[in-house]
Amino acid sequence: MSVFNDVVLAPDDPILGLVEKFKQDPREDKINLTIGIYADENGKVPVLNVVKKAQAALFAEEKPHIYLPMHGLQTYNLSVQRLLFQEHHSVIAENRLATVQTLGGTGALKVGADFLSQLFKDKLPTVHVSDPTWDNHKAIFKGAGFTVKAYPYFDEATGGVNFEAMVDYCKTLPKNDILILHACCHNPTGADLNEAQWTALAQLIKEKELIPFLDMAYQGFAKGVEEDAKAIHIMTNAGLPVLIANSFSKSFSLYGERVGALSVVTTSSDEQVRVTSQLKKMVRANYSSPPAFGAAIVGHVLSNPTLRQEWFDELSEMRQRIHAMREKFVALLNQGQTKKDFSFIKAQQGMFSYSGLTKAQAEKLRSEEGLYILDTGRICIAALNEYNITLAAHAIIKVL
Ligand code: LMR
Repeated sequence: MSVFNDVVLAPDDPILGLVEKFKQDPREDKINLTIGIYADENGKVPVLNVVKKAQAALFAEEKPHIYLPMHGLQTYNLSVQRLLFQEHHSVIAENRLATVQTLGGTGALKVGADFLSQLFKDKLPTVHVSDPTWDNHKAIFKGAGFTVKAYPYFDEATGGVNFEAMVDYCKTLPKNDILILHACCHNPTGADLNEAQWTALAQLIKEKELIPFLDMAYQGFAKGVEEDAKAIHIMTNAGLPVLIANSFSKSFSLYGERVGALSVVTTSSDEQVRVTSQLKKMVRANYSSPPAFGAAIVGHVLSNPTLRQEWFDELSEMRQRIHAMREKFVALLNQGQTKKDFSFIKAQQGMFSYSGLTKAQAEKLRSEEGLYILDTGRICIAALNEYNITLAAHAIIKVL
């Protein structure tokens, strides 16, 4: 009799499970529009030129592979801070930002969740995620002991945000409740708040003494690196205790290197030191210290003004290619049928389109057409190219 006798089979992850299924699918013309990975016009995940240059420089150094400290590579952490805020911003000038390198954005959410769980251990606040959200948000915060609820967010009728309902919900929340917000390129819907809405939300959060935790996995994929950090600035300038999880998986095409960071906005340099010490404790208890190579690449690029500019340019190319695919996809979908107007996809930001297709249609696309999208109807526009876009659009038209 095995001790594991009663272990039940875990359900497939709604995103990674489909990636596995896709890999096993023998059909040659299959198309994967599930996971948030950018592929170039030839369907390949790019190695950015700045990454090639940084890799070459790092290899030439032939440094030994020692452990990083618990908080990670300091040059990297400082570069992250300057990317989220600018050099002259008071949180940096006054040394109020506690930043630790993490295992991607997911690691940042996990370290942040553990930190908040320790902080409020006697009376855990509730965590609120958008309806819908990236599925892993719920798992991470539940895993840290929190009760997770959902605030109204997506408005199916308009394809945008139901801001009024979101605000009404937030008005009912008690002090210290935690709001998980997508800083830009909302995953899965692509529907973002505008500047006036962020400002109004920041005021409400302040009045209600809530805690905003901003997830920014797609900086640079909506409007630009600086523009996409607007929400973070608005929240910080309102004097809030902001937590920020950011990731370079997509923006540097460094998915497997797990390069992310958690930053916490504190009120003084002294508080920052204490918060950092706690974040380090959480890192130690989870995985001791982060991996070195990816952060060294990002740190190398961001701390060199020429390479940094080159990265902005490469990122801008990716962003523009996605925009072009978005436009073409809508044109193909709308040309081929009259049942559904897909124009709303054009207003969505980032890598994804929340298409409105149902689970049954997603299943049919998979089984009959070899086209993989998420069961929620989320489509990764960033994986479309001149070769697969027509096939994908025609497959969708068939299942409408
Ligand atoms: C996604 O939403 O597809 C990405 O964030 C990848 C992931 O880990 O789910």
